[in-house]
Amino acid sequence: DNSSSSGTESGAAKDGKEITIGYSQLGAESEWRTAQTESIKQAAKDAGINLQFSDAQQKQENQIKAIRSFIAQGVDLIAFTPIVETGWDTVLQEAKDAGIPVVIVDRDAKVSEDLYVAKIGTDSKAEGKKAFEWIDQYMKAQNKTPRDGGSVYNIAVLEGTVGSSVAIGRSEGFEEAMKASPDASKYQILMSQTGEFTRQKGQEVMESFLKSGGRDKIDILFSQNDDMALGAIQAIEAAGLQPGKDIVIVSVDGVKGAFQAMIEGKSNCTVECNPLQGPLLMETAKKILNGEQVDKMVYMEEGVFPADVAEKTLPERKY
Ligand code: AHR
Repeated sequence: DNSSSSGTESGAAKDGKEITIGYSQLGAESEWRTAQTESIKQAAKDAGINLQFSDAQQKQENQIKAIRSFIAQGVDLIAFTPIVETGWDTVLQEAKDAGIPVVIVDRDAKVSEDLYVAKIGTDSKAEGKKAFEWIDQYMKAQNKTPRDGGSVYNIAVLEGTVGSSVAIGRSEGFEEAMKASPDASKYQILMSQTGEFTRQKGQEVMESFLKSGGRDKIDILFSQNDDMALGAIQAIEAAGLQPGKDIVIVSVDGVKGAFQAMIEGKSNCTVECNPLQGPLLMETAKKILNGEQVDKMVYMEEGVFPADVAEKTLPERKY
């Protein structure tokens, strides 16, 4: 096992040559994304793999350009994290025609199975489901009256990037779990809008939710990532409310910032989305290039962390 060594001596080779992977990252929108980028860069170093890293700055067209340039360079393998689910068929067909294997990382892409060798990702539908299920049991235990005095808890949703598999999956998982709950009639989604997975947008959109009637109505915030929740916390405080108390907050990712907010009593739960995908990507790439069989789809392991475990868990968090 040379996973902790670096340099090319112990590194990966194909036909005696150093392996080159072209990786198209979608951008740097969140604390989580930074951790995922780091994980991929570090794992490539540790595996002695030459990584061509390209940052698309939230534009699909830039990702397509990057993939085309990897094809032109003749890299050994292409990996990419699709910003949105659709629109990849043509460029992946080009990679296939050039004989370059493709691995889809983190987010999902809707493409036919013959256009990629493996997917390493996050189960966003499961994350949405876990978020609702946590809310459901928490609200039951709290047994609070809805803030508007009615009988239904009002939920506000901060969605992720429009068209991304993770925003779609988290919404679907959340809504399906809500419908399946014996207490389904106690909940309604009052407001839902994209905050583009950024702290800034999360704050702005939450501010507009509060100003457009939500201030005295919203009981629960489901934020599809931690960064948007951290922005929303600022908006909630600015409106004179207590985040984590007046408005119950659950978000997705499990970054340190969310644990800190929970320790301060300002958030209630984070559903983990694991960004430490680098080692599995490098291992999978090596196997593919060695002609070994790999799983078509592998999900990362992901937990749920409510506020009462935040203090104890924070020191163990790696991102
Ligand atoms: O694709 C994973 C999602 O993208 C993370 O939840 C979010 O923080 C990131 O921007």
